[in-house]
Amino acid sequence: MFREGLLTGKRILVTGGGTGLGKEMAEDYLRLGADIHICGRRKKVLDDTAAELMDKHGGSVKTRSVDIRVAEAVDEMIGEIWASGPLTGLVNNAAGNFISPTKDLSTRGFDAIANIVFHGTFYVTHACGTRWIRDGVPGSVISILTTWVWNGGPFTVPSAMSKAGVNIMTKSLAAEWGQYGIRLNAIAPGPFPTEGAWARLSPGQSTDGDQERDGIPMGRVGQMDELKNLATFLMADGCDYLSGQTIAIDGAAYSAGGGNFSRLSSLKDDDWEQMRDMIRSANDKDKAQRSV
Ligand code: HXC
Repeated sequence: MFREGLLTGKRILVTGGGTGLGKEMAEDYLRLGADIHICGRRKKVLDDTAAELMDKHGGSVKTRSVDIRVAEAVDEMIGEIWASGPLTGLVNNAAGNFISPTKDLSTRGFDAIANIVFHGTFYVTHACGTRWIRDGVPGSVISILTTWVWNGGPFTVPSAMSKAGVNIMTKSLAAEWGQYGIRLNAIAPGPFPTEGAWARLSPGQSTDGDQERDGIPMGRVGQMDELKNLATFLMADGCDYLSGQTIAIDGAAYSAGGGNFSRLSSLKDDDWEQMRDMIRSANDKDKAQRSV
C-alpha cells in the first residue's frame, strides 16, 4: 500500500512493542525505513523481537526495559533516547487489561490497569512532548484505544475508563500542542486477536477469532495489515492537518452492536472463577519473564 522508504528519517518509539499489535506496527515502520525503539517490561522478549525484525528487514530496532507506571523511569528512558536525537513519533500501545465483573475487582486490580494505561500513557506522552516543545521540533503521537471510549466497557471498566482518559488527552493536547507542530491521533481497533490480549479478554478461546465473528457486520476479525496500514498512514508525512481524531477500525462492530463485552452478563460466578484462573496463569507466565 505504501512506497518503500516512506518513513526514512523517522525515529519512532512503540511502547509494548515486543509483542502483539505493538510488534506488528513496529515491524511495518521498520520495513518502511524508520529507526525503531521498543520498550516493555520483558527485556528478553524485546531483544528477541528486535533481532527477529532486524533479521527480516535490516535497519535499527533498539530495546529498553521499562515499566511505564514509573514516571522517573519513563523520563530517564526518553532522555536516553533523545541523547542520540529526537524521536519523530510515539505509539502509545502498552496496555493492561483483563475481563472481570467490576463487583469482584479489588482497588489494586483497578490500579494495576489504570496505572499502566492512564498514568503510563500520560508519562510517556509528556516526556516526549516537553522535549519536542523544548527543541522546537514536530512530533506525532498515536494512541491505541478501543471503541469502548465512546460507549463504555462493561467487564473491562478500568481499561475503558483509562482509555477514555487517553481519548480526551488526544483531543486536549492536539489543541494545546498544535501550535508546536505536534499532532495526536488515536486508533480504536475492534478484535485483532493477539496472544496477550486474548489470554485476558477471551481466556480459553483461540486467536483465530472464530467466536468473535457474530457481532461484526463484516463477519470476520481484523487482519493485522489493515491495522498496520492505518498506523502507517497516521505516522507518515502528508496528512499533517489531521490531529485530535480517534479512528475506529472494527468492521463496523461498534456501529452495529456496541462492540463491547456486554454479552458476558450471562456468565455465572463459576464461569468467572474459571476465567480468573486462566487469566492469572497467563499473567504469572508473563511475570516470570519480566526484567523490571
Ligand atoms: C480479578 C485480577 C485479575 C483477574 C489480576 N488481578 N488479574 N483481579 N481478575 N483476572 C488483580 C490481582 O489480584 C491484584 O489485586 C491486582 O490485580 C494486581 O495484580 P498483579 O498481577 O500483581 O498486577 P501486575 O503484575 O501489575 O500486572 C498487571 C496486569 C497484567 C494488568 C494485571 O494483566 C499485565 O501486566 N498485563 C499486561 C499485558 C496485557 O494486559 N495485555 C492485554 C492488553 S489488551 P489484589 O487485590 O489481589 O492484590 C487491551 C485491549 C484493549 O488493552 C481493548 C481491545 C479492544
